[in-house]
Amino acid sequence: MCGIVGYIGNRQAFPILIKGLQRLEYRGYDSAGIALIHNGELNLYKQKGKVADLQRFVEQQDTEGTIGIAHTRWATHGEPNERNAHPHYSQTENLALIHNGIIENYAVIKEMLLEEGYVFRSETDTEVLVQLIDFMQKTNNVCLAEAVQLALSQAVGAYAIAVLEKGNNNQIVAARKGSPLVVGIGKDEFFLASDATPIVEYTDKVVYIGDEEIVTLNRNGEMKIVTISNVEKTPEIKKIEMSLSQLEKGGYPHFMLKEIFEQPKTLADSMRGRINVDANNISLSGFIDNKDKFLNAKRIIITACGTSWHAGLIGKYAFEEFARVPVEVEYSSEFRYRKPVINKDDIVIAISQSGETADTLAAVELAKSKGAFIFGVCNVVGSSIPRATHSGCYTHVGPEIGVASTKAFSAQVLALTMLALLLAKEKETISDDFYIKLINEINLIPIKIKEILKINNELKDFARTFTYAQNFIYLGRAYNYPVAMEGALKLKEISYIHAEGYPAAEMKHGPIALINQEMPVVVIATNAATYEKVVSNIQEIKARKGRIISVVTKGDTIVKNISDYVIEVPATEECLMPILAVIPLQLMAYHIAVAKECNVDQPRNLAKSVTVE
Ligand code: F6R
Repeated sequence: MCGIVGYIGNRQAFPILIKGLQRLEYRGYDSAGIALIHNGELNLYKQKGKVADLQRFVEQQDTEGTIGIAHTRWATHGEPNERNAHPHYSQTENLALIHNGIIENYAVIKEMLLEEGYVFRSETDTEVLVQLIDFMQKTNNVCLAEAVQLALSQAVGAYAIAVLEKGNNNQIVAARKGSPLVVGIGKDEFFLASDATPIVEYTDKVVYIGDEEIVTLNRNGEMKIVTISNVEKTPEIKKIEMSLSQLEKGGYPHFMLKEIFEQPKTLADSMRGRINVDANNISLSGFIDNKDKFLNAKRIIITACGTSWHAGLIGKYAFEEFARVPVEVEYSSEFRYRKPVINKDDIVIAISQSGETADTLAAVELAKSKGAFIFGVCNVVGSSIPRATHSGCYTHVGPEIGVASTKAFSAQVLALTMLALLLAKEKETISDDFYIKLINEINLIPIKIKEILKINNELKDFARTFTYAQNFIYLGRAYNYPVAMEGALKLKEISYIHAEGYPAAEMKHGPIALINQEMPVVVIATNAATYEKVVSNIQEIKARKGRIISVVTKGDTIVKNISDYVIEVPATEECLMPILAVIPLQLMAYHIAVAKECNVDQPRNLAKSVTVE
């Protein structure tokens, strides 16, 4: 959840660290801090608030130094304030440490350290860790890397850490378990970060640090990796394929709007080499290489969190309708702890934009330990989940920086639909004609999204009228039910308006009691097998004076006549409609949040990459 940056080399570290923090700010933004070594002195600068607040605070101070570490925080232990912000000093201010993750046994360690005479200045688990490293260093008379190794062998939990030592201008020691950590390799310099975004403008050569590995970055360009149990590892250098322009707003006021507008392109990128209209063919190497596993699977379990879980639900409908295989969709956080039945012939599909969500990663490890075949649908190349799975399919939508997921969702739905159709084709549970029809329809999706995006200005004006609302209900049926939940999630997370997504027919079993003339009800009522049923559901709401905002297929008249506001989307196959219907809901949530002057890209209390459970 937090963001980590580090630098050692010949340049001034401060500007690199600040820029790096800005790039990582989507990971946490309640406080930030930097540690620099200059003339042997280890200096800390911390501030509550955004990276910009830290920058302003430090502006008048001496920030010299060619080695430093920096952190942007999403609070877990202790409220967001300057005292709890990272880096944390050890007792004698000899060490400074930044940490992303949670040390679960921090209370026991803290008690031991208190007995040893250590005094604590913050409420964080991180301070406990830096004090433990200090204790290990002193009691065993070892170097920093060895002290880190000894301390981490006692720490339970998840972490990515980086440590500096006063007087040691030549070394950063970092380590990870569960939380991501990447080293960028420049010429006589190293960069360190939670993901590649702060590194990409300096180098495309990276090493992904593995779990339970400790890396020492030396000023002479030497890098050493050992595991906590002291096995030396050879760094594996990888090339990152990410451009700087992908990390900038490109003229849009917010990343979220840019990412919504990118979807025609990102979906085309996602289809490239996979959807071949001329050959009437879908090609997914992750499926082709493991075809027998898919064909022999008795069941598919999809595991994910949040928006990715919504995509998983849509995937379920497609797998069951076309490939006739039973599918369960599980919140990763529940799945990992509820002793699920997992068989060797199950396929577990883990969906994650970031590829770092702690609960989904743990669900993957659990399913793997039970012998299931694990398939990842992830976006961030080289992240932890794709590395932990047996096979998978990247969504290839480029970096998603707005905290609210948009372009990742549409590509996840696309990936799952392609997978379901491929499996169905192999199992011969769909006809060749239908398969070809779907391939052609998929191919048209980017053009249809472009068409929908034209209503942006109209939606902007319309959205303003809803800033008063305290509650929203979103309704849909079948494939559009998960879309309703996704629309509600988008609205609540960025505008702080309470919103619920419901299967339309469930309304009358309770939520209908909420309906009055104040209550906006968004109904996804596109052409589908359940269309008439949804019309009846709308009538029930109308009868109670609810305000209907409907998303309909172009040319619809029935729902149009009973709605207060209508958004048209082009026609498509029912299973593909979620990709189109979600676009106006993303735009609507965005414009309502902007009209309410909310911080759209960094909504309160949220972080982009949830690396703690
Ligand atoms: C909502 C949102 C979150 C994520 C969830 C899972 O807009 O972004 O609900 O979908 O935290 O994240 P990933 O997909 O990275 O595993």
